[in-house]
Amino acid sequence: MKALPSSSGSSGEKEASSSLVIALGSSLGATCPSEPPMKARRSLEPVLLAPWGSCLLALGAPASRPTRKSDSFLWPFGMTTALNRGCWHKSLAMMATAIKLAVRALVEVEVRRKSERLALSEAVAELGIRDVRAIGLAHRLVLETLKRLNLLDEVAKAALAGEGSLEDLGARARAFLRLFAYRAVVEGASRRELASFVLSAREALGKGTLRPIERALGRCTTLSLDDVLASRSGDERLALELCVPTWLLRLLCRDLGRQVAIGLLKASLVQAPSYVRVNTLRGEEGEILASLEQEGIVLEPVEGLRHVYKVVEAGKPIILTDAYKEGLVYPQDKASCLAVEVANPRPGQVVLDVCAAPGAKTTYMAQLMGNRGLIISIDFSRRRLGAWRKLVARMGVKVAFPILADARFQLPTRLRADVVLLDLPCTSTGAFAKTPSAKWRLGPRSPKNMAKVQARILRASAEHVKPGGVLIYTTCSLLVEENERVVEDFLRANPDFELERPEPFLGLPGLRGLSKAQRLYPHIHECDGYFIAKLRRES
Ligand SMILES: C[S@@+](CC[C@H](N)C(=O)[O-])C[C@H]1O[C@@H](n2cnc3c(N)ncnc32)[C@H](O)[C@@H]1O
Repeated sequence: MKALPSSSGSSGEKEASSSLVIALGSSLGATCPSEPPMKARRSLEPVLLAPWGSCLLALGAPASRPTRKSDSFLWPFGMTTALNRGCWHKSLAMMATAIKLAVRALVEVEVRRKSERLALSEAVAELGIRDVRAIGLAHRLVLETLKRLNLLDEVAKAALAGEGSLEDLGARARAFLRLFAYRAVVEGASRRELASFVLSAREALGKGTLRPIERALGRCTTLSLDDVLASRSGDERLALELCVPTWLLRLLCRDLGRQVAIGLLKASLVQAPSYVRVNTLRGEEGEILASLEQEGIVLEPVEGLRHVYKVVEAGKPIILTDAYKEGLVYPQDKASCLAVEVANPRPGQVVLDVCAAPGAKTTYMAQLMGNRGLIISIDFSRRRLGAWRKLVARMGVKVAFPILADARFQLPTRLRADVVLLDLPCTSTGAFAKTPSAKWRLGPRSPKNMAKVQARILRASAEHVKPGGVLIYTTCSLLVEENERVVEDFLRANPDFELERPEPFLGLPGLRGLSKAQRLYPHIHECDGYFIAKLRRES
């Protein structure tokens, strides 16, 4: 079995990157409406097909760069701050950089099945991009496009109108057509914004890349979602509206009921709230909060969790604050923090942290242990363990040690632990808002295959729970197959383990009668969807 890049689940790193997008997205004024506008528009085809100068003239804009404030209507994404000479080119250049990054990342996600986060960070490094605004914009465009891939492909096919198929286009042209379809049909960008977008794309990708899709780009601007969905009905239409594969919609409805399934899928299309954990290994909580406030970060405590805060306002991305760089604070989802609070490791205890990278939970456990005791963290990804090492160092953790190993097999340690924490690879069905690419990597057999891996890791890890110790089973999947069924099978085969109510209990009870397990739903609990079960080994 190979690595499961699609199944990394929720992690602090993902949370860090999404907070960057949230902050940058809002500072760009680039909003994504939760209810897509369903309107038909006048065709932009003649404008988009025209060369640079005539394109601008057709829109009533000056062919040269604008020099007066009143010219600012052509700025992309409605940016209307004071103009000075050169801003026009700067804004187009920023957009071109964002498009270059976004297209590259979308191609890597599609062709090499990378996660959006990895694809983007590699693209930023390879292209040597430093413009934080362009990176933030690219990230937002990639996330929003990947969230709606099936719907956007329907728009793109309608726009191609039989002039070749989407599959036959080059990967870069296909990626840009999807980006454009998102902006035109979902975001409802104005004609001028779309024209700027195409001009920037020509600059970024070259005219040759856009040539095969020029007519389709024009037609996109005349389409509405109603047109695209008109011929669909039943589950097929609902799956397009909720932007999920039809088989997965049906599975979620079967497991959770239609109302819950629809609620959580809708929530995955809008921006999730972000949370931070204050690291008391690096300083006193009150002082850290004060320093964050000085950097423009307004927080609100999360009831029931120590050290965890909801980000109410962020003047800049958390990961660009001094507090983050100094390890005083870490962006980490509420659900991830809850799992650690349930594990409740105490100073001096021995902890086995399985599937540990990049270390969000390792570092929180060390914090709750006051840096006293021992944590052994296992992961089979060398790259992710590299990130684990950096995080552990930045957060001032002294008691954690990594092991590179495949946890499906006998673990290379004889440790008997007070706490064994499993943060398993999964289908990420609870985390589609942050990792939308996962939706499109899954197939109908994925939950079953994933459940086999989860069961193997659970079996191998359970041997290391000392009598009286606890094992915490967590995933960011909401499917019964990966959660209740795996735990039930394990309990049946291991009568020396017993399910215990996980405290704090902030979620809803598990399904199939596993009322002592805990489930969190994005649309109810404002966090990643999560499953947590606490199993105690008899003394
Ligand atoms: C949900 S992420 C873990 C997040 C981490 N616990 C944290 O809080 O930062 C799942 C991790 O499982 C690892 N993984 C997947 N399959 C594995 C296996 N068979 N053995 C060991 N690690 C595995 C992945 O590399 C990934 O880092």
